[in-house]
Amino acid sequence: MRFTDKVGIITGAANGIGKATAFKLAAEGAKGLVLADIDAAHGAVVASQITEQFETNAIFVEADCSQAEDNKTLVDTAVGKFGRLDFAFNNAGIEGAQAPLADYPVDMFDKLISINLRGVFLAMKFQIPAMLESGGGAILNMSSVAGLKGFATLSPYVASKHAVIGLSKSAALEYAAQNIRVNVVNPGAIDTEMIHRITHGNEAAEQAFQNLQPVGRYGTPNEIADFVAWICSDEARFVTGVTVPIDGGIMAG
Ligand SMILES: NC(=O)c1ccc[n+]([C@@H]2O[C@H](COP(=O)([O-])OP(=O)(O)OC[C@H]3O[C@@H](n4cnc5c(N)ncnc54)[C@H](O)[C@@H]3O)[C@@H](O)[C@H]2O)c1
Repeated sequence: MRFTDKVGIITGAANGIGKATAFKLAAEGAKGLVLADIDAAHGAVVASQITEQFETNAIFVEADCSQAEDNKTLVDTAVGKFGRLDFAFNNAGIEGAQAPLADYPVDMFDKLISINLRGVFLAMKFQIPAMLESGGGAILNMSSVAGLKGFATLSPYVASKHAVIGLSKSAALEYAAQNIRVNVVNPGAIDTEMIHRITHGNEAAEQAFQNLQPVGRYGTPNEIADFVAWICSDEARFVTGVTVPIDGGIMAG
């Protein structure tokens, strides 16, 4: 029960890794969770299931992470309903298109950067002042192994995930002395809708993505959620500015 009395925000919480993390942190006793997504139908279900099953009060807010006003609303909701903000998992992201750089659509480049990078910047911009008011906090930003190495046909995605690391390391330095920790998680291929959209369900492509991991399989959303719970908890109080592959061994090669 590492999250008793704690209040946090999770973006991209309607599906996949964000959803698994919301359940994990509720199971660990979180007092309040503000769950954000553009997928209102699934997001509302996640929030009501959590509130039914756990002591946690989970509130779903339909919010686009690329919009400043929406990010402000999330923080205002946490502080307004629960009086504080202790942690945030800035997880929302899209995979974008798949094409060699010269063929990549410019409008998709702009959209992807606005969600995957601008979204993380805006999230922290509003979360940090609320955490300072609460005496400190823990921020975890979502990157990917694609934030640590290149992947052909995904160059804007790779660029956005590299950029999240730079943003996070600098913020970690800026706020370390004020008890705000900022870290990054770099998952390998995780079994969520995102991966199946990239493979289009093609069996050979699915196998290739599983083989990316030396362990020979996809990771599960729960395997990422377990890490999120640790790094956002007080057990990780001396950990800031790090970027951690949870990747079945990809980055060892
Ligand atoms: N699945 C993987 O293999 C993998 C690997 C490394 C990193 N990631 C990253 O993990 C994060 C979560 O991905 P996932 O695999 O759970 O995918 P997913 O598609 O299942 O979930 C992503 C969620 O983000 C939401 N979202 C999309 N755009 C949004 C926006 N503008 N504002 C708010 N919410 C928005 C979606 O509605 C969805 O609920 C992403 O940032 C992704 O890049 C995924």
